[in-house]
Amino acid sequence: MDIKCIYVSVLLVVADGLDVRGPSGPLVVPLGSSVVLPCYVDELLLTEGLEVEWRRTGSESLVHLFLDGKSQAQKQQQDYQDRAHFFTDQIHHGNFSLRLDNLRAEDEGQYTCAVYSQQDSGETVVEIKIERLLVSGSDASVSASVGEDVTLNCFVDSHIAPEHIEQILWKKTDGNIQVLLYQNNQALPNSSDERYRDRVGFFTAEIPKGNFSLRLKSVRTEDKGVYVCQVFAGGLSASATVELERLGLSSLHIAVLIFCFVAGSGAVLLLCCLIYYRSKNTVTSSTIWNLQLSLIFFPNFCLFFAFVFWGLTEGFLHETITCCALYILRPVMLITALPCLKYLQGR
Ligand SMILES: *[C@@H]1O[C@H](CO)[C@@H](O)[C@H](O)[C@H]1NC(C)=O
Ligand SMILES: *[C@@H]1O[C@H](CO)[C@@H](O)[C@H](O)[C@H]1NC(C)=O
Repeated sequence: MDIKCIYVSVLLVVADGLDVRGPSGPLVVPLGSSVVLPCYVDELLLTEGLEVEWRRTGSESLVHLFLDGKSQAQKQQQDYQDRAHFFTDQIHHGNFSLRLDNLRAEDEGQYTCAVYSQQDSGETVVEIKIERLLVSGSDASVSASVGEDVTLNCFVDSHIAPEHIEQILWKKTDGNIQVLLYQNNQALPNSSDERYRDRVGFFTAEIPKGNFSLRLKSVRTEDKGVYVCQVFAGGLSASATVELERLGLSSLHIAVLIFCFVAGSGAVLLLCCLIYYRSKNTVTSSTIWNLQLSLIFFPNFCLFFAFVFWGLTEGFLHETITCCALYILRPVMLITALPCLKYLQGR
């Protein structure tokens, strides 16, 4: 029984080889920093005949080689000569960790730590992810008609989890207008400029994917311009720009233009008729009176409707109400002033 047990355990050790350990997950590190790639065994190994090889996984490129009791710098790939540091003094603890300095983007990937002792061998894989911030917007500019809703894209592609994103700031570059701010895991629409408040938002369901696209509702002519999405996370910052251009005219805008044109040309036409009839002295005074009234009412009513439509498209409610009231009140004012004309007649 005992012999059997010993036999089985010997068999297990031989089958398993060396139990080389590494980190439990990928190491996420900022660009330019240093990182220790852990690699160790729990048993004590003889330094004699020991070989430790650090390689890029799936490639022949040698990051570091420890052989014959020392680091073999000449075998190492050039690129790593100054940047890879092996802790020779830690070997007798069974620690074969490697420090990589001055991390570059191309250092991202997997590294294999292979340990060969006189009897056994084993290896572990360590993965490095370089923490960086890549923010992408839209390659092509976005165009829309006035009054439509548009989406301005901003996608954060990084190894930084969305909850570690400190700030997202959407700005309009000309005039440096704050469009929308995201901070402490929430959008702060109250900090938006008055022009954008109530019209902007994120796609809440998209935020966990790193998608911070901006939704801009009922676009106005003045919204045209270049927008920038600035991202701040983990001491890094990056940004992307999106251009909103070619704001076409909506049907409401065309209606506004038609009303303005009709008001102007109608007023000129009515005035010409009035002058003509007056000079002829043959028509009745009631015709003149009707023409006068039309001249007062017609352009004002046209402009009243033009302002109603203008208000619907551009959304400045207070301005629209003021202008509409002005155009309605003007004829009323003129009519109330009519009786006074009698006093002027003799003079
Ligand atoms: C191995 O050595 C390095 C460098 O001294 C150290 O940072 C690391 O914690 C050590 N690992 C273990 C498992 O002892
Ligand atoms: C982000 O979300 C918006 C709205 O759902 C979508 O149009 C856009 O394609 C998304 N971008 C990416 C990169 O997923």
